[in-house]
Parts: sequence; C-alpha cells; structure tokens
Amino acid sequence: MNKKTFLLLATFSVLLTFGCSNNNGTVNKETVNTEAAPDVKPKTDSLVVSPGNASKGIGRFKDVQLSHPIDAAMASKGQSIFDAKCMACHKTDDEKLVGPGWKGVTDRHSPEWLMNFITNTQVMLDKDLTAQQELAVCVVRMPNQDLTDEQARQILEFMRQNDGKK
Ligand code: HEC
Repeated sequence: MNKKTFLLLATFSVLLTFGCSNNNGTVNKETVNTEAAPDVKPKTDSLVVSPGNASKGIGRFKDVQLSHPIDAAMASKGQSIFDAKCMACHKTDDEKLVGPGWKGVTDRHSPEWLMNFITNTQVMLDKDLTAQQELAVCVVRMPNQDLTDEQARQILEFMRQNDGKK
C-alpha cells in the first residue's frame, strides 16, 4: 500500500481505539488501569452490566421514589435537557456515540446510581467500579453537566420512558 493509504488506515484505527465500544468495536485492553482498580477486569468488550444491578453509586441520592405510571410531563422536560446537553454524546437507542446509548440504561443501573452519576460524575468516575469500567471502555471522560437535582430526576424519567417503563 502507498504511504497515503497507510496513514489513512492508521488514523482510522486510532479513532476506533478512542471510541466507546459497547457493541462491536475493539477495545484497547491496555487502557484498563488495573493498578488503580484491581477489581476492574471487564470480561468482555461490552458495557453490559448485569440487569437489576443494585448498586446505588456514590452521591446524595439514597432512595429515589419512582412514580407509576411514569410522569409524562417530567419526562418531556427531561427530553429537553437531553436535547440540549446530552445528545452530543448519547443516543437513545443502543448505539454508542461518545458515551453509551441509553436504551436499557434503567435496567443496567438503579435509579439512585443514575442520579448520582448524573450529578456527581467526576467522583463516580474516580471511585465507582461500574463507572470506572465504562471509563476504561469509553476512554473519553464524561464532563460534569451541572444539573440540579430536579433536572437529574427529569432526565431519569425520560430514560424510563425511553426504556418503555410503566
Ligand atoms: C462530552 C460527552 C458527553 C456528554 C455531553 C454527556 N455524556 Fe454521559 N457519558 C459520556 C461518556 C464517555 C460516558 C461513559 C463513562 C465515561 O467514560 O466517562 C457517559 C456515561 C453516562 C451514563 C452511564 C451510561 C451507562 O450506560 O451506564 C449516564 C447515565 C450519562 N452518561 C448521562 C448523561 C447525561 C444525563 C448527560 C446530559 C445532561 C450526559 N451524560 C452528557 C459522555 C458524555
């Protein structure tokens, strides 16, 4: 191959490595920092966290009350926040963009974990094992979104609606 093709391929593989691969891409295992977190050893390249994961994460949310049926008005406010602040990196289906797609996110995590992650992102990425696993796979670190508790709750309702929760 000529030099140009080689450069193109090289660039492409670097891009692949830096994506967040929860579906199909390859993951550079060397990005997993096993020294800092000896227990974090993703068995697969995927972000699948066992359904019904009970971890509440780290933060001030200890007991989030869910409404049944879901609150459509609250979900719609959550959608506006998603459009403005999250859509650049997240999709609502299971496809990753910069971060994981949100389909099934309410099955992968407890409501408390989600609200803690959304409002306490940097601490969770530093200390929460599940969040660290995602960081290892995604490489890119999710920035703080500076949402209020109320906005975080609206996002959660939008996620529940997106997952077809009743
Ligand atoms: C600049 C890109 C970016 C933006 C903007 C962003 N995120 Fe993220 N998000 C990520 C990445 C990357 C991850 C995976 C963890 C990591 O590597 O930091 C993630 C992970 C998550 C997770 C865990 C997902 C899972 O499947 O376990 C949630 C929940 C989340 N983000 C919520 C939000 C919300 C809510 C917003 C908007 C208010 C938002 N994110 C905006 C990049 C982003």
